[in-house]
Amino acid sequence: MKHKLLSILAISLSLLACNSDKNVKSMSEETKVTIAPISSEDPHSYAKPNDVVVKHLDWTANVDFDSSRISATARWTIENKTGAKEVYFDTRGLLIDYVTIGNNDEFTTFRLEPEVMYVGQKLIVDITPKTDVVRIYYRTTEKSDALQWLTKEQTADKTHPFLFTQSQAILARTWIPCQDSPGIRFTYNARVKVPNSMMALMSAYNPTDTMPNGTYDFQMEYPIPSYLLALSVGNIQYQSVGRNTGIYAEPSMLAKSVAEFEDMQEMVDSAEALYGAYRWGNYDVLVLPPSFPFGGMENPRLTFATPTILAGDKSLTSLIAHELAHSWSGNLVTNYNWNDFWLNEGFTVYFENRIMEQVYGADYANMLALISYQDLQAELDDFGMESPKTKLKLDLAGQDPDEGMTSIAYDKGFYFLKLIEYTVGRENFDQFLKTYFNTYAFKSMTTEGFVDYINAELLSKNEEWASAINLDEWIYSPGLPANCPKIQSDRFEKVEGELQKWKKGSAASSLASANWSTHEWLHFLRNLPSKMSMEQMEELDKAFGFIKSGNSEILAAWFVKVIPNNYKVAKPAINDFLVKIGRRKFLTPIYKALIAADPSKITARGIYEKARPNYHAVAQQTMDDLLDWNKN
Ligand code: BES
Ligand code: ZN
Repeated sequence: MKHKLLSILAISLSLLACNSDKNVKSMSEETKVTIAPISSEDPHSYAKPNDVVVKHLDWTANVDFDSSRISATARWTIENKTGAKEVYFDTRGLLIDYVTIGNNDEFTTFRLEPEVMYVGQKLIVDITPKTDVVRIYYRTTEKSDALQWLTKEQTADKTHPFLFTQSQAILARTWIPCQDSPGIRFTYNARVKVPNSMMALMSAYNPTDTMPNGTYDFQMEYPIPSYLLALSVGNIQYQSVGRNTGIYAEPSMLAKSVAEFEDMQEMVDSAEALYGAYRWGNYDVLVLPPSFPFGGMENPRLTFATPTILAGDKSLTSLIAHELAHSWSGNLVTNYNWNDFWLNEGFTVYFENRIMEQVYGADYANMLALISYQDLQAELDDFGMESPKTKLKLDLAGQDPDEGMTSIAYDKGFYFLKLIEYTVGRENFDQFLKTYFNTYAFKSMTTEGFVDYINAELLSKNEEWASAINLDEWIYSPGLPANCPKIQSDRFEKVEGELQKWKKGSAASSLASANWSTHEWLHFLRNLPSKMSMEQMEELDKAFGFIKSGNSEILAAWFVKVIPNNYKVAKPAINDFLVKIGRRKFLTPIYKALIAADPSKITARGIYEKARPNYHAVAQQTMDDLLDWNKN
């Protein structure tokens, strides 16, 4: 071998750098510093894309369920813009075995810097000004927080284990060393080996059949940011539901999922009619086991979804409209860094609402908009109107970008865009949005860039618009501006009328609730008095069967209402729910209610002890903080 000396040097350096599971653990425990790193471009990435930037990834991986480990090679094609002698990658919880450069796979030296809280370790690889390929040979560890390895028992069918990833916001670096910033895009190919008889899926062109030899090839030919890298492995089957739409799920979940999402093709067609062509080929949904920490994740071509939206009556499918909408707002035009998160989520909630209006009517969309308003009000109450957390444009340097995932980005963002729509008129706004998505397709956008663009392309057309809206107040000031639109829902007003009757003594069974949808029930539940007697709770449960509901939204809303009123009957159901379901949006309010009812936290921690092993790392992180889990 030509480069023996160099290779010995590289290997010993890599050993020094950090080369065992043990080292990774102790390193992250010892050196948790909370200083903000690094690049002025993105406070959550070590990459310096103005010097050296990645262009394409070839990922070769072996997924081993016995050791809960992925062993892989990330072959990055890079562009060295400045003749730099180093390239920087983001990593966290990875074991780097060695690194080579060039097409001949020549060993090179590399260093891993000490772990910094949230952002992980900077990987510095020595290159030459001519280097265009860097190969990183590595393995994941139990610190690879994106990955959740499920046992058979944690799946629906209980026949095979399961693996899924969650990369957003900055967890891609825990399973692939990468330039983990939403402002950097690359194409990718992958070859993934999994156990025979299991299926592998990625955010890419996907198989529809299981490969007998367990080897899968993937291609994502459009440039994507790293947070959209995704992988799932399990006993999974596929069924088409339309021209370019389909469902993946465990065999026992497939028929139910297909029935629930039967309107998916109509959603795609409506979205295209609104804002232009769907640019990613197929749109499929993968229904995951219930520990998935989010409602949905917009992985390109393949939305990952929680099974808790399978209500049996299609009533929770606005979540699909939401993830689909990200195919434009987020995946096509991407927030530049996590301080601009509202550009992803605010636009997507707006777009989701427009799809739902198109498919199910204005009545329905208005209910969703009001639910969004209630969520926003609750968040504003919680943070306080002066809190910087209530600004659309955030400053998350030194913090976990997860902190930005609040109702502000989603619902304040939504109401801001509604205001623009009402001010300039729907036709003008739609035209503007369509052009915006087209102009910036496969690019990133900063908040400031958006402000410049809308001023130039839309608001300049009428002198009164800019002052009627006041972009700056909405984006850069805390709280909720006085010009926030008021949305009205006749259907919710009817619910409020029935609720009043009950409060004044009418029997629950006499209320005119026969045709209520999930959203009307949620409105009813959210507005129940905070103090209720045992008799009242029993009466409601007897009349409406909340505790037996198969609808996770209704169950969670009911639990939050009855926990403070010590409704003992609900205890086993609450227990089962928290042990089975790992969706953070439900866990947080339920655990908070348990803590409020028992501030010693003994009750909540008792349940958490059993439930925690079923939660994904991002949900564990939030609940650990809430329950002081690692603090004693
Ligand atoms: N992209 C988000 C999920 C996300 C955001 C994960 C930030 C990690 C960090 C996804 O599109 C989303 O918003 N999901 C929501 C659903 C929705 C209908 C509001 C969820 O999971 O609750
Ligand atoms: Zn979203």
